[in-house]
Amino acid sequence: MSHTATQSEAAEPLLTLNNIEVVYDEVILVLRGVSLEVPKGEIVTLLGPNGAGKSTTLKAISGLLGTEDGKVTRGSVQFMGEDIANSAPEQIVRQGIFQVMEGRRIIGDMTVHENLRLGAYTRKDKEINSDIEMVYNYFPRLKERTGLAGYLSGGEQQMLAIGRAMMARPKLMLLDEPSMGLSPLLVKEVFNIIQTINREQGITMLLVEQNANIALKHATYGYVMESGKIVMDGTRDELMNNEDIKQFYLGGGEERRSFKNLKSYKRRKRWL
Ligand SMILES: Nc1ncnc2c1ncn2[C@@H]1O[C@H](COP(=O)(O)OP(=O)(O)OP(=O)(O)O)[C@@H](O)[C@H]1O
Ligand SMILES: [Mg+2]
Repeated sequence: MSHTATQSEAAEPLLTLNNIEVVYDEVILVLRGVSLEVPKGEIVTLLGPNGAGKSTTLKAISGLLGTEDGKVTRGSVQFMGEDIANSAPEQIVRQGIFQVMEGRRIIGDMTVHENLRLGAYTRKDKEINSDIEMVYNYFPRLKERTGLAGYLSGGEQQMLAIGRAMMARPKLMLLDEPSMGLSPLLVKEVFNIIQTINREQGITMLLVEQNANIALKHATYGYVMESGKIVMDGTRDELMNNEDIKQFYLGGGEERRSFKNLKSYKRRKRWL
């Protein structure tokens, strides 16, 4: 695979999932051997339809699976050379991974400022206030919102969720559908800021999206997941020019089909 070749030339990946299996409630097998790599400094996207296992993959990395009675039962999650599978979420935050949850999950009855401070809960240093100013530089409109976070618009809540993640000073940020519920204009704005943060702060990103158009525009590499497995992967250009991706994800208004029914997907079965 071209992927492996390019990766081995590049620096050691920051994150490597090695054939992981995830089970909920001890019986529900959701991830059936997922492998992927996130090189340092890059934005990698994980695409796939509803229920494919995208959020589960992120939770397996951030340790949040444990709060839902989920467990990595096979394989490894290597972060900077250490296996972090099934570690406690606070421990994983301290190691440098922060997940921005689907649906944003900010604290509605706290102010913007309080939400941002909360993001720094694992830190003991004295630079928290200057980091809050840094977040306001990326999201100036948040500074103007002095009321409770629950009254923020959807876009502002997404910005606050990303800002709160920045407060943990992560090496790797996991973003779960940042485009969800936002107008096309706001989606563009949020993704441009995500890319700027990646570039300027050197934060590596693993980005889950259903909006493949916008995700591939900003990512360097992408994986496609279906039914708990990676069914395709490639560079941004490879995926953008791939006929299946075009039909299934980038086409407008066409009826959604399973990847498995597509002819060229069958030809590429070796990618499984
Ligand atoms: N806490 C849980 N307990 C049991 N099953 C779960 C749990 N969370 C998710 N699942 C199941 O795992 C599968 C994958 O769910 P997941 O949320 O990872 O998908 P997703 O790709 O993020 O989907 P979406 O695009 O809708 O967010 C689904 O079948 C879902 O019902
Ligand atoms: Mg999800």
